[in-house]
Amino acid sequence: MHKDIEKILITADEIQDKITELAKQITEEYRDKDLLLVGVLKGAFVFMSDLARQIDLPIEFDFMAVSSYGTATKSSGVVRILKDLDYEITDRHVLLVEDIIDSGLTISYLLRYLEARRPASLEICSLFWKKGEQAVPLDVKFPGFEIPPVFVVGYGLDYAEKYRNLPYIGVLKSVVYPTPNPL
Ligand code: IMP
Ligand code: MG
Repeated sequence: MHKDIEKILITADEIQDKITELAKQITEEYRDKDLLLVGVLKGAFVFMSDLARQIDLPIEFDFMAVSSYGTATKSSGVVRILKDLDYEITDRHVLLVEDIIDSGLTISYLLRYLEARRPASLEICSLFWKKGEQAVPLDVKFPGFEIPPVFVVGYGLDYAEKYRNLPYIGVLKSVVYPTPNPL
């Protein structure tokens, strides 16, 4: 285990098993459809690469890069698009691939933004979501793990751009990430 990690929340094996399950559901759902996976950078790149290799369909990839204003660990819902899609999505089946949904503000912004381009369908696959934290109701068609409302790193998720390459997700030691004052 990495020296900065206090505890592992979900192991690498558990993540891979869940991805196999999600990929099966996606393969069933989009059979005979033309599927475009849209990854939300940077966090989703690890998940998307594992997920895509288990989807048994001729999929295509695109990416968006966004940054949400806020503190180091909480998004504000004000999203800045750093990189837009390369392809048109009108009349295409789009699956938005996200690492984690916390307040849900980032993904709701992206849904509205992409919906305006009239895709044939638009759904969400998110590996993690923090239950009870969503500021807006969200319909996540392919959900992975529900996790407690704590800040986690690993498997694409960062703290100050570090720890994305850990194969599991875990909680940081408080010397690295001081627990926020409950005010
Ligand atoms: P939301 O807009 O509050 O749903 O936040 C979503 C984005 O915040 C995710 O795409 C992540 O980049 C980031 N995020 C939320 N929770 C965590 C966490 O526990 N660890 C690392 N990044 C997180
Ligand atoms: Mg992210």
